[in-house]
Amino acid sequence: MLHFEPKNISVPELHKLLLGGVAPRPIALVSTLSKDGIPNLSPFSFFNAFGANPPIIAFSPARRGKDASLKDTYNNLTDTKECVVQSVTYSMVEQISLASSEFSSNVDEFIKSGLTPIKSNLVKPFRVKESPFQMECKLLEMKNYGEKGGSANLAVCEVIKLHIKKEVMKDGNIEPNLIDLVSRMSANYYCRANGESIFVVEKPGSNVGVGFDNIPEFIKKSDIFSANDLAKFAGISSIPTIEEVLKFKTKIEKEHYNIKLTLEKDFFEYQNLNDYKSMLIISLKLLKTNKDDKKYLEYSAKCALQNNDKEFAWKTALLQENIS
Ligand SMILES: Cc1cc2nc3c(=O)[nH]c(=O)nc-3n(C[C@H](O)[C@H](O)[C@H](O)COP(=O)(O)O)c2cc1C
Repeated sequence: MLHFEPKNISVPELHKLLLGGVAPRPIALVSTLSKDGIPNLSPFSFFNAFGANPPIIAFSPARRGKDASLKDTYNNLTDTKECVVQSVTYSMVEQISLASSEFSSNVDEFIKSGLTPIKSNLVKPFRVKESPFQMECKLLEMKNYGEKGGSANLAVCEVIKLHIKKEVMKDGNIEPNLIDLVSRMSANYYCRANGESIFVVEKPGSNVGVGFDNIPEFIKKSDIFSANDLAKFAGISSIPTIEEVLKFKTKIEKEHYNIKLTLEKDFFEYQNLNDYKSMLIISLKLLKTNKDDKKYLEYSAKCALQNNDKEFAWKTALLQENIS
């Protein structure tokens, strides 16, 4: 590991490290109005939501690194106490980058970035039409943390109205692939949240798992199971008994008696299809010819875990120790 104490490195160096390690960060596209009514639009990735009752978001229009001056967004917010914060999608990312240029405070950044202003309902700053997720906000407090270049100013806001494009909703949730958001990482890197970068982690909910310490050593020592796989094993609330494991074996053999394939290549074909039940049947057949080769059982269990079938995975993994 490399070790740093903030007091021993330069502010730009520290800023760079924070940007890389605290990532990917959501991006707030913040619309404000100056006290003279000039629209301002700037992105801020030191941003998040912090609660829903009341709905609180916060972002940091920090002091400029080069001269410690305050940004237009900061001045507008402290003057007018209002803003609209919108999420940033892949289709608008170049425009929000353009909006981050240091245009002077009398320049309308909607015009410069080519983004479209539309009227808000409860606050004066405009919403950005292109964004599918817009929050009209009131400033609750502006917290200052220093007066040097790079010092944070935390704008804590209450959301008083949300506008969400119907097309990004599915079954009452915002569907990540439909909204297609981007986030900020280190240097000039961004991240697009779609396709294979989106995956599911089941919530433990009220279920209390058995924990890593109750996983048998022969499972923990396997080269086939990753730490994520072991954590899924650890999440089951009770480990199947030997009787349950043997009953499971009889049942699955009965259900899949029609599978006659016994070759390794057949096994991996089923793996490509995510068909862990057929994988297990072939594993059991392969085991009849080579009793020591338990890896097929482990691959079948791993595939079951990937499909969040923990019960099946446990019973399959435990068959290793309970097969004669
Ligand atoms: C994706 C992105 C994220 C940014 N995040 C921040 C941030 O969290 N805080 C900050 O002070 N500046 C951030 N910046 C830089 C500001 O957008 C930039 O300083 C902008 O000119 C400020 O505009 P203003 O003076 O009109 O408020 C970010 C820039 C980009 C492109």
